[in-house]
Amino acid sequence: MTAILAIETSCDETACAVVRDGKEILSSVVSSQINVHTLYGGVVPEVASRIHVENISAVIQEAVKRSGLSMDEIDAIAYTRGPGLIGSLHVGVQAAKTLAWQFDKKLLPINHMTGHIYANRFAIDHDLQFPLLALVISGGHTQLVWMPDDYTFHIIGTTMDDAIGEAYDKVSRVLGTGYPGGPVIDKMAKLGKPHYTLKEPHVEGAYNFSFSGLKTSVTQMIAREEKAGNPIIKEDVAYAFQETALGAMVRKTLAAVGDLSPKMVVTAGGVAANSRLRVMLADGMKQYPDIELVQPPIKYCTDNAAMIGASAYPAYCHGLFGTLADAADPSLPMPGETE
Ligand code: KG4
Ligand code: ZN
Repeated sequence: MTAILAIETSCDETACAVVRDGKEILSSVVSSQINVHTLYGGVVPEVASRIHVENISAVIQEAVKRSGLSMDEIDAIAYTRGPGLIGSLHVGVQAAKTLAWQFDKKLLPINHMTGHIYANRFAIDHDLQFPLLALVISGGHTQLVWMPDDYTFHIIGTTMDDAIGEAYDKVSRVLGTGYPGGPVIDKMAKLGKPHYTLKEPHVEGAYNFSFSGLKTSVTQMIAREEKAGNPIIKEDVAYAFQETALGAMVRKTLAAVGDLSPKMVVTAGGVAANSRLRVMLADGMKQYPDIELVQPPIKYCTDNAAMIGASAYPAYCHGLFGTLADAADPSLPMPGETE
């Protein structure tokens, strides 16, 4: 039995969890700052760091208390080393190093995106199956990750410009529907009709993505309609954007599935919470009945520390320990990949 205490502060959630053997969540505490950042229309990095500093001790104490374990029973301290906002990451890194030093524990520096992938461990009662294909989609990343084996990562596709979550947030800003854009557009699109047409951006590479051109198309379309005196139907804009963006993403994912024949396909990251994506992917995967599709429950899509504890378990088993000299790295590559 291995109990790992994990800390996550890469963006705007201050989180700590205790996870046993990478699959059993003994406790998971998430303190969200969303209400503060919503006031500014997006995450303000300096504000985020300050709130992390205010909350981190209480969040860790609460997670340890709820786990029912004493610090003696914790085997290692895991933390998100990157990618993320440097000031935010720094708070979690310092907290983890302080605990490791004080209680003489091993340190596990973890890549945030691997955490999103391993969050799928909580969605199933069996192990992840390899080779595995992960569609990792968040506010900062859009990646197709090929995992031939446990804790082995190869990025086979990525965005050429904006991340998908970023595109959702930007389109929401254009529509005046606030931050974060993903959940609002998801909801509005349900009421939308196929009224507007948006062109899918062209991009080099079979598994690569592009979303910035699509965001510009939305802005230009709104400007055109306004100039012509037509009222903007926000729900229809949300529908058109979502169908185009997700359509492209699902098509590329299915192409990779067809080419590579993984045993399991998983989604990961905040955008994996999207209700339309879930349906599109489940439909598309019907042509591959032997390949298991896992789409994690919404609470494991968005940032939390349990996912860092899940990813830290294979790192622990492989002996991938860090030292007190390790610093936060805002553009930390996936393990085994170079920057
Ligand atoms: O993974 P995450 O919580 O934080 C990062 O690591 O970036 O992802 C946040 C992103 C935001 O851009 C948010 O708009 C998007 O995930 N998101 C969604 C949905 N819920 C959150 N995007 C589309 N549909 C949703 N339902
Ligand atoms: Zn994330």
